[in-house]
Amino acid sequence: MQDFKGKIAVVTGGASGIGEGMARTFAAEGMHVVVSDIEGDRAESVSASLRETGARSIAVQTDVTDRDAVEALADKTYAEFGAAHLVCNNAGVCVGGSAHESSDADWSWLFRVNVNGVIHGCQAFIPRMIEQGGDAHIVNTASIGGFLPGGEILGVYTATKASVVGITESYADSIKAHGIGMSVLCPAFVTSNLIEAERNRPDEFGKRPGGLEPILGGGFETGMDPLTVGKWVVRAVKDDQRFIFTHPEMRELVEGHFAQVMEGFDWAAKQEI
Ligand SMILES: NC(=O)c1ccc[n+]([C@@H]2O[C@H](COP(=O)([O-])OP(=O)(O)OC[C@H]3O[C@@H](n4cnc5c(N)ncnc54)[C@H](O)[C@@H]3O)[C@@H](O)[C@H]2O)c1
Repeated sequence: MQDFKGKIAVVTGGASGIGEGMARTFAAEGMHVVVSDIEGDRAESVSASLRETGARSIAVQTDVTDRDAVEALADKTYAEFGAAHLVCNNAGVCVGGSAHESSDADWSWLFRVNVNGVIHGCQAFIPRMIEQGGDAHIVNTASIGGFLPGGEILGVYTATKASVVGITESYADSIKAHGIGMSVLCPAFVTSNLIEAERNRPDEFGKRPGGLEPILGGGFETGMDPLTVGKWVVRAVKDDQRFIFTHPEMRELVEGHFAQVMEGFDWAAKQEI
């Protein structure tokens, strides 16, 4: 997709952080923007400020864990604008700690938001985008953590983000023939409110003691500006870039991880079974 002016963008988790940064960047590119978030008031406030810049924009309160709600988001988008050209399945949450110390509730909450939320966005929008025809693009927000083990720090989170990488790779080639590109956004630290992700944790999942501050505190303070992430995404969509890495300095870490994967093949080649 090369031409953004007058096209329609939908951003889940658009009321804060990376989603807000993408929404603002898309509006600056001349797009009209649907700002979707579980936090309806904040989504409305971002949407109102986009309207002040001359963009058309609506806010839609959506919990991405709810398949029907995401379907309703697509309905509202098409009712208002008649199309969706750039859909960003970006809403996400985080818990800290190792996988083995994480509770069933931690696993369920994170997979429902970070993984099912992305699947719901794909399911709701792809059939409509195919029907509308023409160029379109979907960006799923994973993380550099989708390529790195979370260890003691982000065991559950990185498992969800690896899934988002896999989901993107599963969809991308099959929708290409319909003119729809798909990318996976894999940032490292970006300034946002992710550290307060528990604010949206439903009561049914309880609270995780400790929070994220002791684990991730410093990283967000020195993180990338979300508007810069928005610019990376615009550039990547124009280039139809499958993997959007915003922090090239993380390359060695990912290479180290894949070296470990390849070592498994070296080991296998030596076996006589
Ligand atoms: N900030 C970083 O350093 C970083 C790095 C890599 C990946 N990410 C990913 O970027 C995405 C955006 O996170 P962020 O850092 O901007 O955090 P953020 O908390 O500032 O924004 C996340 C948004 O998602 C919304 N949200 C939470 N649960 C939701 C739900 N069930 N339905 C709909 N919306 C919901 C929140 O209200 C919030 O507005 C997430 O997927 C996150 O995992 C962030």
